Parts: sequence; structure tokens; C-alpha cells
Amino acid sequence: MDRLNWDGTPASTDAETAQASNPYLLPYTDEVKAATDHLYERVKHVVTPMEWPQKAALIHAINTLKAEKNAVILAHNYMTADIFHCVGDLMGDSLALARMAAESDADVIVQAGVHFMAETAKVLAPEKTVLIPDMEAGCSLASSITGEDVRRIKAAYPGVPVVTYVNTSADVKAECDMCCTSSNAVQVVESLNSDTVILLPDQYLAKNVAAQTDVKILTWAGSCEVHEQFTTEDVQDLRDAHPGVVIITHPESPLEVVQAADFAGSTAAMADWARNSGAKKAVLLTECSMSDNVAVEVPEIEFIRPCNLCPHMKKITLENIYDALRFDQHEVHVDADVIEGARASVQAMLDLPKPAAPASFDPACQEKPVDIVTV
Ligand code: 13P
Ligand code: SF4
Repeated sequence: MDRLNWDGTPASTDAETAQASNPYLLPYTDEVKAATDHLYERVKHVVTPMEWPQKAALIHAINTLKAEKNAVILAHNYMTADIFHCVGDLMGDSLALARMAAESDADVIVQAGVHFMAETAKVLAPEKTVLIPDMEAGCSLASSITGEDVRRIKAAYPGVPVVTYVNTSADVKAECDMCCTSSNAVQVVESLNSDTVILLPDQYLAKNVAAQTDVKILTWAGSCEVHEQFTTEDVQDLRDAHPGVVIITHPESPLEVVQAADFAGSTAAMADWARNSGAKKAVLLTECSMSDNVAVEVPEIEFIRPCNLCPHMKKITLENIYDALRFDQHEVHVDADVIEGARASVQAMLDLPKPAAPASFDPACQEKPVDIVTV
């Protein structure tokens, strides 16, 4: 028998009460189950059966809203597996996401990544609505330098080309000659035909690039709070604990960590390596979600998973993606004059010949002196 309130009106069901107190607790209906069962296959290594119905209902609601709004979700490799494999439309590293933003014919782009990635999407597709589910999803590299800093550096080093890493604000990109990502940094630096290049703001990427080229590199004191923490002791401990393990690092880590590893590259280069390596056991020494996401494609590799969480990437959740789509929040705006300058530097990078595969960093490299500019 249905329960009644004191005045005889029908009482809410337990499900209705729960949903009123938690708007993300959507019903797990037959329709949701039919639309999402195939997605569970991709994430069952990290999502328990107990958690799945609630996630599945949100995933279905997000995918329905995307279709209604002609929206796409650009998902960075560091998104949790439920986002990456169940609601992401276009997935990849910073370079791939920038290319996809420029090429997409969606009206709305939801950036499942950090703020500089959303800005890059807006710079390349200013006519589209670009949303980021959490405005606080920043990056320690992007916040280490401002456009004003770059203007001062240019005044102090007239005529020296300035390359800025894509992990910077649009303001900073607007001040530089060319943008780069970790998939193409050496190619970008060498394309400028200068014996000296200023590469901002990641001191570790700069040292890693310098070790792969004859171009003299100057840099800035920025760093990635995730990758700077890995050490050569970590690499040795992993080798001791897991004999035969292959160790993969990112060029935002210190040069000696790259030298101690077996392979280094951008997140796309890591995924590419995993697909083609034939390795049995590996460590992706990077943000935690990377191995979870790559493991779906290469189940034959046993991934050892030490990791450092990126607190910025982890601000993006299924819940705030759902809110971004239903409330059209939070829209990313970039001033028209900044768009013009930033677009020129990003486009100059995209116009370089596209390599067959993302570039890697050879661990058997020699350290070169890199000066940090102070202005
Ligand atoms: P990728 O370009 O390698 O995806 O790197 C982006 C990033 O933020 C790594 O920390
Ligand atoms: Fe920035 Fe590092 Fe987080 Fe990437 S992992 S977004 S570089 S803080």
C-alpha cells in the first residue's frame, strides 16, 4: 500500500526523497541500463558494481544532454576513467585536444581538463561556447607566469624567440612567438632557427628539451606540482620491487628522472608506447588516472600504479560535467585582442608538419646548462 502524509496526500517514495537531497542520484532505469551496459565493460577494473548504477544514470543523463545541445566533451588523459571512457567524445593529450577543438563542428565544447585547455579551445574556436565544469581547475605551471612577466622578459632579451608551453594562460600565449606542448617541444624550438630560445615557464621541460637539442635554452622557474615530485630513488625502488618493469616518465619531471627511466614523453606518447611496446609490466610515472585509462586498450600490460594526483584535474567530476551541460556553466571568455595574439602562436605550432607519432625524449641524453631568467 502507498504511504500517505498526515493530510492524506501520497508520501514521497524513498527514491524521490533521496533524489531531492542529492540531485545527482538519478534513477537507474531499464533505459539507463540498456544505454550504459557496454560502457561498464570499459571501467569495471576501477568502478565496483556497487557504484555503477549511480554513475551509469549520470553518464546517461550527460550523454543525452550532449546530443540535445550538440555538445562534445574534450577529455584529457588525466580524467578519471568514468569521464574518459563513458562521456568523453574526443580524448588525448594537450596537443590532440587543441587540434580537436579547432576541427570540431559542435556548438558547445565542454572541457574535461584544466582551465588553460579550455582557453586554448576558445582561442581556436571563438565562435563556440566553451564550458569548464569547475573554474578552479587550474595548473601550477599556468599560474607561475603572467603576460606582464613575458613582456618584461622580451624587453630584457630583445630578438630572442619566446616559446611558451601550452600550460599557460591565453595572455601569456599572446605574448610569445610560438606555443608548444610536450609532444612537440623540441620540434618547435628547432623550427625557430635561432641558436638561443626562451622556453617558458617549465624549468624541467626546458632542461629536458635542452638535453635533446643543440639550441641554447633559457627558461623560467615554473614547475608542475605533480611531476616535479618524482625522484630517481622512486625509479630505483620500483625497479627493485618489480624486476623487469618498464618505467615511463613525463618531460615535466626532472631530467635525472627521465635519464633513469626507459622512455619519456607526453601523455599521448605514453599511450602510444603502451600500444606498441609489447611490454608485460610497466609504470607510467605520472598522474594517477593515466594507467587506468590506458589499461583498457592494453589489458595485457600489468601496470604498477604509483601515482600523484593532480588536484586541478581531479576537480572535474561527472557531477559538475552534468551541471555544466544542464546550466550552461561555466563559460570561458577570452578578450578578442588576446584571442588574436594567442591564436597566432597556437596556430604557428599547429601549422608545423605533423609527426607520425608524438615525439619522445631519449633517456640516453646529456645534461646541458639552462639559465633561469629573472626580470
Ligand atoms: P600532455 O600534453 O602530455 O597531455 O600534458 C599535459 C599536462 O598537464 C601534463 O601534466
Ligand atoms: Fe598542471 Fe601538472 Fe596538473 Fe598537468 S599535472 S595540469 S602540468 S599541475
